[in-house]
Amino acid sequence: MTSPLRLGIAGLGTVGAGVVKIIRAEAELLAARAGRPVTISAVSARSRDKDRGVPLKDYAWEDDPVALAKRDDVDVFVELMGGSDGPAKAATEAALAAGKDVVTANKAMLAIHGQALAEQAEAADRVVRFEAAVAGGIPVVKSLTEGLAGNNMTRVMGVMNGTCNYILTRMENAGLPYAEVFEEANKLGYLEADPTLDVGGIDAGHKLALLASIAFGTKVNFGAMQLEGIERISIDDITRAGDMGYKVKLLGVAQMTGRGLEQRMSPCLVPATSALGQLENATNMVVLEGDQVGQIVLRGAGAGEGPTASAVMSDVMDIARGIRVSTFGRPADTLVEAQAANELQPAAYYLRMELQDKPGALAKIATLLGEHGISIDRMRQYNHEMSTAPVLIVTHKTTKDALTVALDGFSATGVVATPPVAIRIEEV
Ligand code: NAP
Ligand code: HSE
Repeated sequence: MTSPLRLGIAGLGTVGAGVVKIIRAEAELLAARAGRPVTISAVSARSRDKDRGVPLKDYAWEDDPVALAKRDDVDVFVELMGGSDGPAKAATEAALAAGKDVVTANKAMLAIHGQALAEQAEAADRVVRFEAAVAGGIPVVKSLTEGLAGNNMTRVMGVMNGTCNYILTRMENAGLPYAEVFEEANKLGYLEADPTLDVGGIDAGHKLALLASIAFGTKVNFGAMQLEGIERISIDDITRAGDMGYKVKLLGVAQMTGRGLEQRMSPCLVPATSALGQLENATNMVVLEGDQVGQIVLRGAGAGEGPTASAVMSDVMDIARGIRVSTFGRPADTLVEAQAANELQPAAYYLRMELQDKPGALAKIATLLGEHGISIDRMRQYNHEMSTAPVLIVTHKTTKDALTVALDGFSATGVVATPPVAIRIEEV
């Protein structure tokens, strides 16, 4: 056998400890598959004394992840600390400067600094790999970069934050309000230390920005992502959308349009019978569409020790086997600046409103929509509760701009009791 591939692992939390466990438990299997042993030289975390459920005495300890990254006995620096800047970025840069390859699960760092890190890596003939950063255990980066390399990608979309999908499906299944389920998710340990990363759509947006770069050959541009979280989604939205045959999902969509690159992460409705519609709890799903292959659907665990460590090992094993793929699937200096689409592709929308019990109320709304070129596809009115009645409208495809102007005119009709809710319906 040839020389071992020697790792330095910084971060021994959920993911880091999982990686150490796999390398210890599966040493023979990994060596057989890679044609060389995969070993750990040194590890780093904040606390040396913490019990991590796995023996660490065989490995050198570094308090400073930058020192770990530079060690002579480390070939690959495995960054599993997290955070877009701080020690993760400093140690990753130090590792590349010292001639090490890098494997990371850190979507926040790559969504902001991915282009610079990829350029630094390639200038030094090194690689930065990040399978674990997107959709946990689902091998989506590999699928897109390698498996679909012969396709022009047309659209990438998915549910890539397990916490939000848990909250939305739990609200639906238990009929509970958002605030109550949010607390439940907190108690279950699902939420990031800063929950806004989850429920604000930021974490999932980071992941989508990375996939968009690979799919469309563009520089990662998280700043251009149109972001909206799930905080405004009420139990009424979920149950009423269900009545119309839809499920609410925090859905990410990236597509290259005539107007530029559209990247958005926002609550959308999808048909309840679709694969995305049937996705329950904290599971992730990524849908990849290419001109030759058509549609590919990948589903699996988006987080957790085993699934995420599995994805880290995929990158480690590639490096051990001598498979060296550019960070975003093509040389970093060939990635282009994408013009951000300033208008979304037209879509059907779901509107929910409370209409007053007045003659002609519905007609006024239909007329207003018609005046803005918005045609109604389906409509449902429920029984009047006191003086108002819930009304649902599904429109035909329209532009977001036309819809916004029409909705702005609703209050002037004098028949709407509360501001209408509008949710985009995605064709999946
Ligand atoms: P975690 O459980 O919070 O672990 C973070 C680890 O980093 C801890 O061991 C911590 O040390 C160590 N650390 C933090 N700051 C450090 C510093 N300055 N120097 C040395 N070590 C430091 O986090 P995680 O869940 O494993 O996540 C790690 C990365 O994987 C993040 O980028 C995350 O976004 C990504 N990721 C996680 C999941 C998941 O399911 N958890 C899924 C996909 C991607 P102490 O233990 O001593 O505090
Ligand atoms: N907070 C993330 C989620 C963890 O809920 O999916 C995995 O990236």
